[in-house]
Amino acid sequence: MCGIIGYIGNKNVDSVLLVGLEKLEYRGYDSVGIALISNNEIFVKKQKGRIRDLANSLNGTPLKAKIGIGHTRWATHGKPSDINAHPHLDCKRRFAVVHNGVIENFEKLKKKLIKKGHKFISETDTEVIPHLLEEYYNGDILKTVLKVVRELKGSYALAIISKFHPDKIIGVRKGSPLIVGIGEGENLLSSDIPAILSHTRKIITLNEEEIVIMDKENVKIYDFHGKEKRKRIRYIEWEEDMIEKGGYPYFMLKEIHEQPKVIEENLKRVIINGEIKIQENEFLNFFKNKNHIIFQAAGTSYHASLYGKYIFEKYLKIFVDSDLSSEFRYREPLLLKNTLMIAVSQSGETADTLEGIRLAKKKKIPILSIVNVKGSTIDRESNYTIYINAGPEIGVASTKAYTAQLLYLLLICLLISYKRNIIKKKQLKEIIHELEKIPDKIRYILGKEEEIAEIAKKYYKFNNVIFLGRGLHYVTALEGALKLKEISYIHATGYAAGEMKHGPIALIDKNWPVIAIIPKNYLYQKMLSNVMEVKAREAKIIAITDGTPTELKKIAESIIIIPKTIPILEPILNIIPLQLFAYHVALLRGCDVDKPRNLAKSVTVE
Ligand code: F6R
Repeated sequence: MCGIIGYIGNKNVDSVLLVGLEKLEYRGYDSVGIALISNNEIFVKKQKGRIRDLANSLNGTPLKAKIGIGHTRWATHGKPSDINAHPHLDCKRRFAVVHNGVIENFEKLKKKLIKKGHKFISETDTEVIPHLLEEYYNGDILKTVLKVVRELKGSYALAIISKFHPDKIIGVRKGSPLIVGIGEGENLLSSDIPAILSHTRKIITLNEEEIVIMDKENVKIYDFHGKEKRKRIRYIEWEEDMIEKGGYPYFMLKEIHEQPKVIEENLKRVIINGEIKIQENEFLNFFKNKNHIIFQAAGTSYHASLYGKYIFEKYLKIFVDSDLSSEFRYREPLLLKNTLMIAVSQSGETADTLEGIRLAKKKKIPILSIVNVKGSTIDRESNYTIYINAGPEIGVASTKAYTAQLLYLLLICLLISYKRNIIKKKQLKEIIHELEKIPDKIRYILGKEEEIAEIAKKYYKFNNVIFLGRGLHYVTALEGALKLKEISYIHATGYAAGEMKHGPIALIDKNWPVIAIIPKNYLYQKMLSNVMEVKAREAKIIAITDGTPTELKKIAESIIIIPKTIPILEPILNIIPLQLFAYHVALLRGCDVDKPRNLAKSVTVE
């Protein structure tokens, strides 16, 4: 949460920062600010609102500075306001700091600093940092920063500039991501890759407790003891157009439409001569002698891991748990010597998931992670990572990463099951054969976008929606509801259809649309009864089904027919119309689809 950027070089820094911040806006967007050094003074412009508002208030006049830092905020301490926006300054405006994370002991530090005469103006935790720099500055910026970090508890990625060192940017990482972009005669600092991709493909990822000091030619990295470190430069393979909208009005829509290609390319990558080969299958060792798997993840990735639970249990015949990372950490989970943890995360930066990994590591449990962003913290801290290769996902609502997660969970599960001699070659071949048809089936559903947009028109004014599913479609119900609520702000909940009678059905009347995920599989009749029950209470039924909807025609007000596949693959298909439905409802309600209120793409605080 929060995006930070720093630039030093020969370009006009304000435009570099503003363009970079736009690419980081998915990390938070309630306020924005920049600090530059110009004529040996620190100039700060910051305000509540979006980056375009800041650009408007700067009037498009280049400030001609060549060094600066910027920040896009997702508020933790102190409401979104001009004053709470970053950068923050010390009393004499000699240090400017932007911060991503939380300083847990800020109140104590603030009291101490106030006693020493420092004046605070914001409600943020961050403001203690420039004042600490001011308090401890002794002419040596590295030593000063080392002294400051010794005082700080919590998580932070920082970018700092100082009047005393007008040719340097200092970055610090502890608990929140930070990368360095190495350019020609210019260097950058950023929370994430998209913000620097138009300047350089060469990056260094800072590890925990590292400090970078850079000028436009040199980059030096130190640990928290002040010892210089040698770091590997990585080359980023993402193309710049991957982080552009490519003619779509929103990233979310572009990413929904990318799904057939993501699945297709991944299948080409992993199905070799009819056999599954995931990154040379080196990870198979992790499953040896394991008879308990625990998945942990958050949000959409949690829904994917719930799919993992269902299929791993079915095809591996072992105990599988799936936990919300935020719960896993604090419930004293039973981790035995034959337990394997699988962490699922698109960003690889989710704080709770990361802490869950650290907890399991302490108990010597091996960690396999399923991640989209290579080089992310979860990637680096896991024993082995499987990449879902979905390409950059910028829309805050996860879409293509979800279906790619489902795909990889399925492939891993099938592979292990086959190696354990549970699933036989013939069955495996049949599943792979069906899997290869999935990209075209998704294309078919995407071709129904107009029809789905028309259906959205019928329901966008309702304030509540229930999603129902059974078995694997319970997972789709949860994910469909999350998509709708997060981008349209309609109250939406997913239920296991059989649970309705145990309470939720009391809600139902004519004001409740119910979206039923009801493919014609082994649970069809049971699901149909549940749909009849809500229909009898006047719910408006929208059915997602495959095949001819004979009975459903009499019950449902709207029907979306999707192609048939085998039950285990159905969740990859039946989420697609729900993603499109959520998107069109949100548009009709005038919501900002890519940047829903109160949300950020990577949740790097607890
Ligand atoms: C919802 C969404 C979030 C994320 C969650 C976990 O559309 O995107 O619920 O799934 O914040 O993020 P990752 O997968 O990056 O760990």
